[in-house]
Amino acid sequence: MDKLVSLSKRRGYVFQSSEIYGGTGSVWDYGPLGVELKRNVKEAWWRAMVHMRDDIEGLDAAILMHPRVWEASGHVENFTDPLVECRNCHRRFRVDILLAETGAADLEHAQCPSCGKSGQWTEPRQFNLMFKTQKGAAEDSADVIYLRPETAQGIYVNFLNVQQSARQKIPFGIAQIGKAFRNEITPGNFTFRTLEFEQMEMQFFVKPGTDGEWFERWRELRWKWHQETIGLAADRLRYHPHEKLAHYASAAGDVEFFFGGTIGDEGWGEIEGIHNRTDFDLGRHQEYSGKKLQYVDPQANERYLPYIIETSAGADRVTLAVLANAYREEEVEGEVRTVLSIKPSLAPLKAGVFPLVKKDGMPERATQIHEDLRARGIPSFYDESGAIGRRYRRQDEAGTPFGITVDGETMADGTVTVRERDTMQQTRISQDEVVRYLEERIR
Ligand code: GAP
Repeated sequence: MDKLVSLSKRRGYVFQSSEIYGGTGSVWDYGPLGVELKRNVKEAWWRAMVHMRDDIEGLDAAILMHPRVWEASGHVENFTDPLVECRNCHRRFRVDILLAETGAADLEHAQCPSCGKSGQWTEPRQFNLMFKTQKGAAEDSADVIYLRPETAQGIYVNFLNVQQSARQKIPFGIAQIGKAFRNEITPGNFTFRTLEFEQMEMQFFVKPGTDGEWFERWRELRWKWHQETIGLAADRLRYHPHEKLAHYASAAGDVEFFFGGTIGDEGWGEIEGIHNRTDFDLGRHQEYSGKKLQYVDPQANERYLPYIIETSAGADRVTLAVLANAYREEEVEGEVRTVLSIKPSLAPLKAGVFPLVKKDGMPERATQIHEDLRARGIPSFYDESGAIGRRYRRQDEAGTPFGITVDGETMADGTVTVRERDTMQQTRISQDEVVRYLEERIR
């Protein structure tokens, strides 16, 4: 993880937020390459969940919602972690994590990870993870308003709006990508657990009684997406069914990725949760809003509250999994080569374009290829500085899958060298073929 953090900063994937002020704990910024990678992850999800399906509609609900939403959802009451404070150094810890990390049987025997004192803990206190702020100009009379801790509720309250406007019939789903905020007390582990993050959530509305079958179907589909679309290695993925269920769920499980280090359970961390939320959410919103949220089946002439199967993935965690999955070091000709083997479809840059030397018309020819690629929506990077080997290495580290080199032969016969990042194999093709060659390998 340390190597990944350092490469992320060096190559412009991820920076610490407000770094010049000493940083803000558990908040990160995506740099030029990071923002592209995360966008590609989100686009791959949107394509699989919305564009490729007739039975899922997209939505972009607001972050700020009516405060009653969070009472109905159970977050005001239940979205809490038990916290203790060390009386000596005043640092706060989550009780379960403190016990797991110190290996102590109870609080009395737990040593403070910060100052080393034993058993100096305050009584555990429930701490709500929602960020609270206020709406309106006058602070005293202002309404309390929360930053949403999940995107899902924006979907539930719009269930009938979407169903009726899109003329969908059950079973159907609503998908959304957006920011969520949680005042997490356990800090750290890079972008794995942060205060502000993006979720890619889909809520699938089904007839009660068919929920068990849909839960299994969505579990399989999401598992396949992580392996086939995102390219995460099969031996670094596992499915972990929940024994302890959240207040809203009747069945749940996580897709976990092996990050290593101190993340999650011995290096295995959740990247997506799949939940059978029953009719809990619609039932509660119906009760708290006083508005009927039943689905009317015109054919069967039935009315019912649908059950919901939720797939909830973290865009930041999947992006981190892509980076961790892609990172490798190998020895090439006595030197360490660092490579990010990101799938070409997700890589921020698809090609580096290099004139071998800065003369004899090569820069002009390489610039033309760079422009042709850009015009076809293939992000590329033009680089004419330094030895060609060093230019290749820079792009290997950035995760760029192809290098196109213009050399003396190009000027004579119109062919270029295409170098493949993972194998370092070189192929000669016609300059006119470059766009098609890359398009075939990227998509
Ligand atoms: N709507 C259900 C829900 O929010 P969750 O398991 O709490 O379920 C879903 O969150 C996903 O959101 C997780 O699998 C994870 O990828 C991401 N996530 C949750 N908390 C996060 C945090 N503090 N930082 C980064 N990602 C987080």
